[in-house]
Amino acid sequence: MGFILAAIGSAVGLGNIWRFPFQTSANGGAAFLVVYLLAVLLIGIPVLLAEFVIGRRANTSAIGAFRKLGRPGWWFVGAVGVIAAFWTLSYYSVIGGWVIRYIGGSITGGALAAPESYFGAISVGLPSVGTHAIFMLITIGIVALGIEDGIELATKVMVPAVVVMLVGLAAFAATLPGASEGYAFFLNPNLDTIIANAGTVLPAAFGQAFFSLSVGFSVMITYASYLGKNDSLPVDGVTIGISNTIIGVLAGLVVLPLLFAQGVEPGSGGPGAVFVAIPTALAELPGGGLVGQAVGVVFFGVILIAALSSAISLLEVVVAYLVDNYGFSRLPTAAGIGAAIFLLGIPSAWETAWLDWFDGIGVTLLLPITVLFVVLFVGWVLGQDAIDELTDGSGIGSLAPIWLWGIRTFILAVVVIVVAINLWDLLATPDTGYYIVPGPLR
Ligand code: PFF
Repeated sequence: MGFILAAIGSAVGLGNIWRFPFQTSANGGAAFLVVYLLAVLLIGIPVLLAEFVIGRRANTSAIGAFRKLGRPGWWFVGAVGVIAAFWTLSYYSVIGGWVIRYIGGSITGGALAAPESYFGAISVGLPSVGTHAIFMLITIGIVALGIEDGIELATKVMVPAVVVMLVGLAAFAATLPGASEGYAFFLNPNLDTIIANAGTVLPAAFGQAFFSLSVGFSVMITYASYLGKNDSLPVDGVTIGISNTIIGVLAGLVVLPLLFAQGVEPGSGGPGAVFVAIPTALAELPGGGLVGQAVGVVFFGVILIAALSSAISLLEVVVAYLVDNYGFSRLPTAAGIGAAIFLLGIPSAWETAWLDWFDGIGVTLLLPITVLFVVLFVGWVLGQDAIDELTDGSGIGSLAPIWLWGIRTFILAVVVIVVAINLWDLLATPDTGYYIVPGPLR
């Protein structure tokens, strides 16, 4: 089964449908959207290509790849990525668990009857730990049995299904009174707002771009190691980047008008935004409650597939590393690592403030640091070899030197700036940044 399906399966997930809308809402709407789109096109996709180059050239999973490509000391870059994957899955699984719960809540109608209190009840404490456990068990099962092919097949159905459902819901949202304010907020950028808020919008938009494209987690390096010399890296990278972005923007076109129609203040939705906005809208669908419930089951079912195809990529990099390097066998490794990730996720399941903190450390610290070193490695260590690798099988070789030049210069500069802002926020501004001491302990 193809690399491209696995990679799209990894990219398209809760990051598009859950994280993108609430990040947009919290960071000024259209200002965020503009910076995000620039971040994906100018930085995200080139960095994705850089990870493809490393993975295919080394033909081995991430940590070994850095060793193999000539500079053994760089292994730590792959290691930080693997740690980021481990870290991220711990809370990603919590949200995946909520999705499972919402399939049930759509069947019974409970999620649609009182969306806000439903979310409040299922997203914390024991119920949330329980669904986190179920999501993790499914993920472990798929990775342990090595049946990713099945999930890749499901991805084939999932991607068009997500698009159809988001388009349908967006059309419905457009009919609601108040929706137009949502569009104005989401689609009408104001340059002054962008400049005035650059210090917060920039890191948030870049973090979202990397998270959504699955770069900085060693995942794309590992997946690209399965690529053949005849595959075109630029075509694959651009396909993944564009389709992934379209799905995020579509989710924004659903959720932001809904939030405005439902009178939710921009920025106040937080991690619950999608989980409250969608069921509220489902309950209002024409045709009565049963229609809303049926659409809800399908919607959350499809999102669950999207979440699982991302989650298995996160677990897979950790397991692949241990299996390849230490000869551990697959099943116990997946079970053991999965159990450890489950334990790490318990605080996030217990209290949303922890989830926020885990997400903040992952996206503002681990990711940009891995990305920085990937850029340095490809630009200044691989150099000409990177151009050769990108060109192999691509047919658009003349663009490769421009890409490498970008990696060496402005992409590197922008990533350094993002890392610097993030470190500053993290260490120096307890009230605005993701303070290094977790909120719940402060
Ligand atoms: N890109 C996934 C999403 O947007 O939901 C999340 C993710 C999966 C991030 C795999 C990183 C990764 F390696």
